[in-house]
Amino acid sequence: MNSNEIAKIVGVSRSTVSRVINNYPDIPPATREKVLKAIKEYNYYPNASARRLAGMKNSTLGIFIVDIKDNEKPHHVIINNEDLLYDNSYFSPFINAFIDQANKMHYYVLVSTVYSSEELWKIQSAFYEKRIDGGVVIGSNEDDFSRILKAIKKNFVLAAVDINVTEHNKNKAIYINIDNYTGAYDATKYLIELGHKNIGIVTGDLNKLSGKIRFESFKDALSGSCIPLNEDFIAYGDFTEYSGYTAMKKILMSKYKPTAVLVCNDTMTIGAYKAIAEAGLSIPEDISVIGFDNTQSSQHMSPPLTTVNVSLAEAARNCVEVIARSIENDRLEAEERIIGTKIIKRNSCRNINIETLPNVAKS
Ligand code: HPA
Repeated sequence: MNSNEIAKIVGVSRSTVSRVINNYPDIPPATREKVLKAIKEYNYYPNASARRLAGMKNSTLGIFIVDIKDNEKPHHVIINNEDLLYDNSYFSPFINAFIDQANKMHYYVLVSTVYSSEELWKIQSAFYEKRIDGGVVIGSNEDDFSRILKAIKKNFVLAAVDINVTEHNKNKAIYINIDNYTGAYDATKYLIELGHKNIGIVTGDLNKLSGKIRFESFKDALSGSCIPLNEDFIAYGDFTEYSGYTAMKKILMSKYKPTAVLVCNDTMTIGAYKAIAEAGLSIPEDISVIGFDNTQSSQHMSPPLTTVNVSLAEAARNCVEVIARSIENDRLEAEERIIGTKIIKRNSCRNINIETLPNVAKS
């Protein structure tokens, strides 16, 4: 069955059938009803590619997970038979919630990964081939996102997670960001309130907005409390577990060890916990650790990790809503949504104030 045959059965032109299917308003209600009845009766499904050719929407949103490591193996989203990409604790809550929200709003979802610069065309072609009505990029750094923006038309409905708006606002897009600054500031202040003055940091990937802002905010919070930052207490990670391990090992080699460390994501705290254990130290007795992201596993660590909650699910729901609204209004609603953070206090940070008080106060 095709639209021609439906047209013959109903006694209208093929273009009337197609106008009914695509919800044009200029069809008399009686004709619309007759066409829809025939469509139902004869089980006619309008061909998706024909609809695409006709420039119609296809109710599909894209998620592009970008993990470009041109000079090395992709490792941020480790892929082997055991560690599958979509188990990654940073991406999975976002993807999960994105798909869920999209489905609730009657959209299909196309998921695609980009592992090298050469694969950036995937995003471009998904738009140009009209496979998707809109999409989101997650995991990309600022440079890659600039290239993506350059490659696609300005009016495509594109969203990005963890990208700095000001660097890209000549090109319009929807930006979904976490309030990294407040989160890292609160985390550092919390350690200071617990009496820590020798505080270290394991940074995230400084090419990513979250990595950069968390580090800057940490430095601001220390200087705001007149606490000097010891260079030996800074170690650079890239958000992976292994980098958390090597970075923490480096910090523990310093002559005067910090009494507390901000580790800029929970995945790296897994490696950091391992390095601390190998050094024969205990958390929080010898060293306090605070993480960031509140990933699923953080509550099951030993000791359970104190961390900064970031609702990637809320970020995803916001993302779908803004994308869908732009598609429905046929106009890219360029805007930035910022998702709040909150400290989740568990058992990996210790109050050392008590030890600095005079003996009398202790008893
Ligand atoms: N990757 C992993 N974890 C993260 C990231 C990231 O890009 N940003 C914040 N936490």
